[in-house]
Amino acid sequence: MNILVTGGAGYIGSVVSHQLIEKGHKVIVYDNFSTGYKEALHQNCKFVLGDVRDRELPARVMRDNKVDLVLHFAAKLNVPESIINPLDYYDNNFLGTLNLLQCCERSGVSKFIFSSTAAVYGDTQKKLVSEDDDLKPINPYGESKFFSERALFSQSKTNKMNFISLRYFNVSGASNDLSLGQRSLGSFNLIKNLCDVVLGYKEQLEVFGADFPTPDGFGVRDYIHVEDLAAAHVVAAEKLYDSQGLVNEVYNCGYGKGYSVKEVIDAFSRITGKAVPYTIRPRRAGDPAAVVADVSKIKAELSWKPQNEDLYKICESTLNWFKKTRNA
Ligand code: UD1
Repeated sequence: MNILVTGGAGYIGSVVSHQLIEKGHKVIVYDNFSTGYKEALHQNCKFVLGDVRDRELPARVMRDNKVDLVLHFAAKLNVPESIINPLDYYDNNFLGTLNLLQCCERSGVSKFIFSSTAAVYGDTQKKLVSEDDDLKPINPYGESKFFSERALFSQSKTNKMNFISLRYFNVSGASNDLSLGQRSLGSFNLIKNLCDVVLGYKEQLEVFGADFPTPDGFGVRDYIHVEDLAAAHVVAAEKLYDSQGLVNEVYNCGYGKGYSVKEVIDAFSRITGKAVPYTIRPRRAGDPAAVVADVSKIKAELSWKPQNEDLYKICESTLNWFKKTRNA
């Protein structure tokens, strides 16, 4: 398959690109290096420097490389930042996706894998949230992905586009050989911040709320290892490529098990053998209490078999990555 990977120099896109190339696919990475980095590029990929909002370049790259399928990762992904700068999120994430879909239409590409998010569900009251539950995003990041999914559905109804949207839960960890991981300094997710605390870059973790309606009062999330998430893209891309009829499917990508912020802190205490200092702050705007995936659909339909379903392993892998790269 000839696959265009937007954002393929970034965190998740690079791990997916490497897995695809190892499986013998031809990968063209399209990235503007806003958070991606050149060391993340596989030596056998073709690289094009560009922005997903460029009106012409993506279409030209699709035609010149006889692209069969697009994997679209290039996006901004920070919830608090999206509340402060919503227009950047609608522009980069939603208009970027619309532009790519128009480029696909103009160059005859009809298969698309979309990086979506659990943030499309909003503050779900369900214990396990499933793909057909209500979509009520509560921040501009989630909305930008929700609008993009709507555009994909509408376009699929014209028979010009087949797509699989993968809704990521909380992604962490580095590639197994520690060559690829999250580099963006603007990233402030829980596990990254805990790494900063145990590596001495932060004095303590700020916990955003301990009064949620969850068993211990702390926010609960479904953490997934980046290697497993990447593997889900590979099986999704191969399924989409082989499919004949119309495909417009959505799959949750998580493990179906929630851990509270306190349980993640405790995992770091076990790894380091030391108590991790933290302080309780007010809740963060736009944060739901608990979001855990129902993963029955992806397991049944995509023959996806996660290999790293272990919070301790995810935290350890992320910590080892930041030990290696934090000062590099
Ligand atoms: C959200 C999205 C997720 C998306 C990610 C990208 C939801 C449900 N999930 O993750 O799909 O991929 O953004 O950024 O919207 N926390 C602290 N202290 C910190 C950092 C976080 O207490 O320093 C808490 C948060 O309040 C939350 C949990 O840790 O309860 C996880 O937060 P974070 O790692 O930032 O990810 P989400 O916002 O859940």
